[in-house]
Amino acid sequence: MQAMSLPAPSLQTGRLRLRPFDDDDATDLFALQSSAHVLRYWDAPPWSERRQADRFITACRQMAEQGTGVRLAVDRLADGAFIGWCALNGWNPDHRRVSLGYCYDDDVWGHGYATEAAAALLGWAFDRLELNRVQAETDTRNVASVRVLEKLGFLREGRLREDCVVNGEVSDSFVYGLIRREWRPPSEPAPAR
Ligand SMILES: CC(C)(COP(=O)(O)OP(=O)(O)OC[C@H]1O[C@@H](n2cnc3c(N)ncnc32)[C@H](O)[C@@H]1OP(=O)(O)O)[C@@H](O)C(=O)NCCC(=O)NCCS
Repeated sequence: MQAMSLPAPSLQTGRLRLRPFDDDDATDLFALQSSAHVLRYWDAPPWSERRQADRFITACRQMAEQGTGVRLAVDRLADGAFIGWCALNGWNPDHRRVSLGYCYDDDVWGHGYATEAAAALLGWAFDRLELNRVQAETDTRNVASVRVLEKLGFLREGRLREDCVVNGEVSDSFVYGLIRREWRPPSEPAPAR
């Protein structure tokens, strides 16, 4: 059976624009994913080669063509700067389940951007796909990511012991889940005064 394509959408929130990646994003994406600080709780080492960025962008297009997920670049509306990305990976239409992931530049952490972008992507996905469950996993030390998931309404469902080994460092992960009937779009942050 021919898989259904899943074209990546463009979405706008109060402060952000989410859009498909293009080749010109490779430089910014490499800068982000090669930062040891940004990737300190990631399930893989920071990138060391620029072609990893090119491969990521190619994979975004393949995901859209094959309907296996959606990865969107996130720009700040105020200045058009690329600040990171968020994604729904591994879309399984039989189980109606997908996994959420995201990564942002440390310069912009703490402004609610990750939550705002994920809420827009989840809203789109619950509307557009017959989605029932969204899953997310995070390093148990990643307090900011735990907080993002909880602000989005995800529930902690368990702990995967010694789930990842990155450069010899062993870490546990939390599993979080959000079921369609629990989904409530978080309210947008109040405009800055
Ligand atoms: C995790 C990440 C996406 C959060 O992005 P962000 O834009 O800062 O997220 P938000 O501002 O929406 O929310 C972060 C929340 O964590 C809280 N937080 C951050 N660091 C914290 C800490 N050390 N202790 C307690 N709370 C903390 C913030 O206060 C905020 O909660 P609040 O709104 O209740 O105040 C960002 O840090 C990131 O990209 N990290 C690197 C990649 C990564 O780890 N991705 C997740 C992999 S599972």
